[in-house]
Amino acid sequence: MKRIGIFYFSGTGNTEIIAKLLSKSYERKQIEVELFRIEDIVTHKKPFVINDFDMIGVGHPVLGFGASGITDLFAQMLPHCPEKKAFIFKTASSPHYLNQGASAAVIQAMEAKGYRVFHNSIIAMPCNWYIKYDDQLNKQLYQAAVKKVDKIVADTINTQEQHLKINGVLSKLLRFLYYGEEHYGAQYFAKGLAASANCNRCKKCVRDCPTNNISEADGQICFGSNCIWCMRCIYACPNHAIKARHLTGCVLDPYTGGFNIDQLLNNPQINGNYVTEKSKGYYKHLIKYFEDAE
Ligand SMILES: Cc1cc2nc3c(=O)[nH]c(=O)nc-3n(C[C@H](O)[C@H](O)[C@H](O)COP(=O)(O)O)c2cc1C
Repeated sequence: MKRIGIFYFSGTGNTEIIAKLLSKSYERKQIEVELFRIEDIVTHKKPFVINDFDMIGVGHPVLGFGASGITDLFAQMLPHCPEKKAFIFKTASSPHYLNQGASAAVIQAMEAKGYRVFHNSIIAMPCNWYIKYDDQLNKQLYQAAVKKVDKIVADTINTQEQHLKINGVLSKLLRFLYYGEEHYGAQYFAKGLAASANCNRCKKCVRDCPTNNISEADGQICFGSNCIWCMRCIYACPNHAIKARHLTGCVLDPYTGGFNIDQLLNNPQINGNYVTEKSKGYYKHLIKYFEDAE
């Protein structure tokens, strides 16, 4: 194995962090990695030749139990490449069973083109909607992610199979929910987006939106209906000027996820021991996840 292409979509930075950790980990094994943002592929900004790579990795966040419309589209646009080895990595706020089928449509599209998708994994990262995780937990998740990444690298170099299975009926139900989230939830959310008086028209959101859904007309920032609810515009705005008026509870204020990982790592007061074997309630399901990372 000499060269790997990693294609990832990341709304708010978590999946990008994992893509970069993977890249560093492969490089420590003398394997060259080229990273591609999926939005640059679907908009034809960055060309690639699939046969330049011995294996490819595809990464995405779990959005509404699915892979996000842009990652689905990317998988459909991939060229045919029989027997090309491929692996999937997804980030989610939880390694929960219900997230296991999130890449199903991506895998289906890739397999229809001959790719051999032999490894599929979930990496739990800071939650970027509804539930603001404690910084101690965010640090603990990141530290576990570093170890999970090394395991993915070892497994994929050795072509070790890992498939995430989910009950067929449940999978159909979750696909249905995902469809609703992608087609109605995201549109409804986007209809409520607006730039506040803090906006200085720097147009970072216009440039950064992965689906080109934000534009400027007559000095106003306008949001279209092609939103995939990735949250990038809201969290990356330097002036915190983009406000949601629909489903406001899903926006964390302030977001302390991927973008502040360096700050978390450098803060000695944050020891990253949030979930322990005694944890109860929602966080209990993370005990096994952290144990497995050791
Ligand atoms: C609209 C939306 C839907 C989400 N749905 C789920 C979900 O179904 N399951 C989950 O565990 N996390 C969910 N999350 C959390 C993200 O998957 C998680 O924070 C992810 O790491 C974000 O990755 P990114 O920073 O690369 O975009 C959702 C986040 C958003 C914004």
